Amino acid sequence: MSTKAPRDFRPALHYAPRSGWINDPNGLVFANGKYHLFAQYGPEPHWGDIHWSHAESSDLIHWRDLPTALAPDSLGMVFSGSAVYDSENTSGLGTADNPPIIAMYTSHGEHEQQSIAVGLDGVNFTKYPQNPVIPNSEKPDFRDPKVLKNPKGGWTVVLAAGDHVEFYGSEDLIHWNKTGSFGPGGNHSKGVWECPDLFPLTLEGREVWVLLVSMGACTENLGSRTQYFLGSFDGKTFTPDGSFTKPEFIDSGFDNYAGVTYFGTKERILIGWAANWVYANDLPTGEFCGQMTLPRVLTLADTPLGGPRLAGAPVSDKLFSEPRPVTGKLPGEVFKLTVSGEGEAEAVLSNAKGESFMFGVDGGNSIYIDRSNAGLRDFNPDFAKPEYGRISAPRFFAGPWTLELTFDCSICELFADKGTRAFTQLLYPEAPFDSIDIKGNAKAEISLIV
Ligand code: FRU
Repeated sequence: MSTKAPRDFRPALHYAPRSGWINDPNGLVFANGKYHLFAQYGPEPHWGDIHWSHAESSDLIHWRDLPTALAPDSLGMVFSGSAVYDSENTSGLGTADNPPIIAMYTSHGEHEQQSIAVGLDGVNFTKYPQNPVIPNSEKPDFRDPKVLKNPKGGWTVVLAAGDHVEFYGSEDLIHWNKTGSFGPGGNHSKGVWECPDLFPLTLEGREVWVLLVSMGACTENLGSRTQYFLGSFDGKTFTPDGSFTKPEFIDSGFDNYAGVTYFGTKERILIGWAANWVYANDLPTGEFCGQMTLPRVLTLADTPLGGPRLAGAPVSDKLFSEPRPVTGKLPGEVFKLTVSGEGEAEAVLSNAKGESFMFGVDGGNSIYIDRSNAGLRDFNPDFAKPEYGRISAPRFFAGPWTLELTFDCSICELFADKGTRAFTQLLYPEAPFDSIDIKGNAKAEISLIV
């Protein structure tokens, strides 16, 4: 249960519910000029009685809450899934003049099965009467369908089935046949696979398919993490590139899980759930528990030390003023800090309570972020452990570096080396950080919301 909030930790730029619980982002679809964001939602500030909440936005930053979209029924709770805009009404569930949004989700009851719901006005969703559309009575874990347009025509869904993902194809979003599977080879850990996504990006003019797979809580990986594979998709199944058989995490921090991307946007935009299953139920935020990461645009970059890598840049950058030098005092609780330097250096943010938060580059050329003394920790025994305090990851670049930190009250996101290293971290300072100290050969600049 979320513990009592000693002060207001509500973020300004990150989506959080008014009250109650959220985990995974669901049904990310852009349709009729609106970005939709559904989420795994429970009415109390802890996991349970899972519905789909619903919000919409014109810019991915300012969100308007809409009525809860999907509630539990006789097939079970409404677990994670996706949504597409069926612009040609291939499902026949809308009309040519008013094509439907089709949401596909997991009905989690005695078994996990896939169901669909139809939205004709962007607000109200009606469950398909013949659900489930992909029945299951054997697999204990069979969930989190992500629907995409098949490059060869029709539709594909990728979903998680225990220690691997499975692909199904359909012409009408209603009748589905299995076309392939991938996994568990190259797996990062033994946890259950969850919330896959599959999409193409380009790297130097070449199409490369990205398969995201989230991994349930596993101590060997410090909680729940999202990994990615690079490879190809032939319309039936995914094959990893020979040079990329070892998966990499999309985020080196602790708090970016179950991330998936938008359907219907030109750029590939990811939102993750900004928490870790290890401590997510105990966050000290009071009547709400859970928030999303900043939406980030994903690209592929060829790096000198790590080859092809996924890179991300937060969409909130456009909100911030031109950077100006900062030393000593830090204004407010929402800002972007850009620290650039060479060799070893550290930025230290601190407050009058004696709490401090650090990030920087160490002598071994790794980037680190450290919340071990950055505020409240004892609300959960794992969050308080040193291994959940400081984390580091090696750079894929050599030489001069730039670290860009977006700070938003109780969450920060650090991007380094053109976004090829990202760290998303929750933190709960008992008072705002109001001073900054830069150690080493580096300079800091600040940008504020304009
Ligand atoms: C991932 C997950 C999904 C599931 C949902 C339940 O965080 O475990 O696999 O659908 O959360 O809320």
